[in-house]
Amino acid sequence: MPGKKPKLEVIVAGLDGARTAADLHQLLICQSPLTRLGPWFLADVYYDCLIGLGLGNIILANVDGETAGFITYTLDTKTFLSEVARRRWATLAAVAKQMWRKPLTTAATVIQSALIVLRQNAEPGAEIRGEFLTMGVVDRFRDPAFIRASGISVAKSLIRAAQAEVAAGGGQNVKLFTLANAVGPNALYTMMGATKRWSGMVRGVNANYLVLPTTRQR
Ligand SMILES: CC(C)(COP(=O)(O)OP(=O)(O)OC[C@H]1O[C@@H](n2cnc3c(N)ncnc32)[C@H](O)[C@@H]1OP(=O)(O)O)[C@@H](O)C(=O)NCCC(=O)NCCS
Repeated sequence: MPGKKPKLEVIVAGLDGARTAADLHQLLICQSPLTRLGPWFLADVYYDCLIGLGLGNIILANVDGETAGFITYTLDTKTFLSEVARRRWATLAAVAKQMWRKPLTTAATVIQSALIVLRQNAEPGAEIRGEFLTMGVVDRFRDPAFIRASGISVAKSLIRAAQAEVAAGGGQNVKLFTLANAVGPNALYTMMGATKRWSGMVRGVNANYLVLPTTRQR
């Protein structure tokens, strides 16, 4: 029907969303070290453990039934690695077996990612348990023409939904990392209420460490 407004649906997807999140991660966040490990790692290890171990969740946005974006969060950044090692040792063994056949850079990426998590836990602000891990919006739905015509910001809707989920889990703030030179993400999170705690080298690049309240501050 001409002139009909698109319908946005934002859903907490759980395990059913792991494959979609992995595909979107691969497509939209090419600078992430995890992306280099491939879609099998993202779907079968990273997102499967995140959801399967009850450490976080995936939120998907659909516009008129079409996948438009995703955001993932955890309420338990600190125990993520240790819980995976304790409860999914067989999965980690499979990862090690896969890595054996891959170039050394893959092993370096895994070690680098583990060190990043450990370093994050020692940084100022590490007392904050909630974290937004990954987020992205499909190109078509970040087109200013689409946003103007529909009145829909998929990005803002995803962030609000994730804030509500973390707040419901008892987290008053979430932490997140952005590339220091990523104008869009930094502007987006700042306008949503985030403040920068520090900047520094993370994943071999200059990153901002931001903290975002999950509930409206008075
Ligand atoms: C980051 C991302 C999710 C933002 O989605 P988006 O659709 O571009 O966001 P929107 O256009 O809805 O913008 C929302 C707000 O962010 C700000 N913003 C976004 N891009 C901006 C830019 N380039 N310059 C200045 N402000 C910007 C604006 O304040 C805007 O609000 P306004 O329209 O009311 O002024 C999207 O660019 C993306 O998927 N990037 C690739 C993946 C990625 O980098 N993920 C990591 C995020 S940490």
